[in-house]
Amino acid sequence: MTYGKVTVVGAGQVGATAAFVMALKGIADVVLIDVAEGIPQGKALDMMHARSVERFGVSVTGSNDYAATAGSDVVVITAGIPRRPGMTRDDLLAVNGDIIRSVVEQAVAASSDAVLLCVTNPLDVMAYLAWRVSGLPSSRVLGMGGVLDSARFAYFIADATGAPIIDVEALVVGAHGDTMVPLPRLSTVAGRPLPEVLSADEIAEVVRRTVFGGAEVVSLLKSGSAYYAPGTSVASMVEAILGDTRAVMPSCVLLEGQYGLNDVYLSVPAVLGRAGVIEVPEYGLTADELAAVQESAAGVLEAVAALGLEA
Ligand code: APR
Repeated sequence: MTYGKVTVVGAGQVGATAAFVMALKGIADVVLIDVAEGIPQGKALDMMHARSVERFGVSVTGSNDYAATAGSDVVVITAGIPRRPGMTRDDLLAVNGDIIRSVVEQAVAASSDAVLLCVTNPLDVMAYLAWRVSGLPSSRVLGMGGVLDSARFAYFIADATGAPIIDVEALVVGAHGDTMVPLPRLSTVAGRPLPEVLSADEIAEVVRRTVFGGAEVVSLLKSGSAYYAPGTSVASMVEAILGDTRAVMPSCVLLEGQYGLNDVYLSVPAVLGRAGVIEVPEYGLTADELAAVQESAAGVLEAVAALGLEA
């Protein structure tokens, strides 16, 4: 049996978790890459030690050299640094922007047919940068944000209603940050739209917890940010891509006219398959929902402008 090959750049918390979930699910052979010597090798070996227990057939290997990533079907990018005290957003943009440039150049040189899945924050800006630097068609460059935000929304909806999580479908679109746009009208509990199930005040509280879900984890952990739900969200997107499932997943993709937006990466429902982003259908939104998405995009466009990319 042959598996797909997935490279995960950045063997930190998110990258290693994504790699392990992919291994446990038997989604693909995984290569972990990091600048830190020993870290990707050590974590890969540790995961392989679990192989006999979990009986997975895929392999996980670690390296500091992109030669090991050659011919990957998907490259997941989690390399980067989180914001540290005293750093402005622009400082983070500059540092992670440089990392994204270097990672994308090396990864694409080794795997010219790969689909790139960006995870590094600020996500929407880094996904746009990855697309521009890669020279790839936008269908092959996307980001993981909406799947995680929607998963958090689903969790808080299940918590507030007492419904089993399996009965909850939740959708969050927009930027992967404070301006994200949870859509109660398009989220359901056993098929019923959320506004039929919860009061306006209850929905407002669920939305608030969703928007600050990542920050809540950061404040509890004290150092570092979330990685279990992000790692599993990455694995689910890779599974849809490699399995060519055509599942609709909220994904950070290039908008080309949808929602009145152009030349910006933002999470919206997108059809995923082996070629990456197969289609970005435009959902019917109310005027308020559309305004919120456009406001969210405005913040991303401002940050992209700060990167100083040539047109
Ligand atoms: N090439 C490869 N790896 C790199 C590079 C680089 N140029 N620069 C940094 N790294 C590695 C670090 O050595 C580290 O192992 O990226 C890893 C990042 O891991 P963590 O610090 O644990 O961060 P993590 O929590 O995994 O988050 C990674 O994902 O969700 C986002 O906001 C998060 O942007 C952050 C990214």
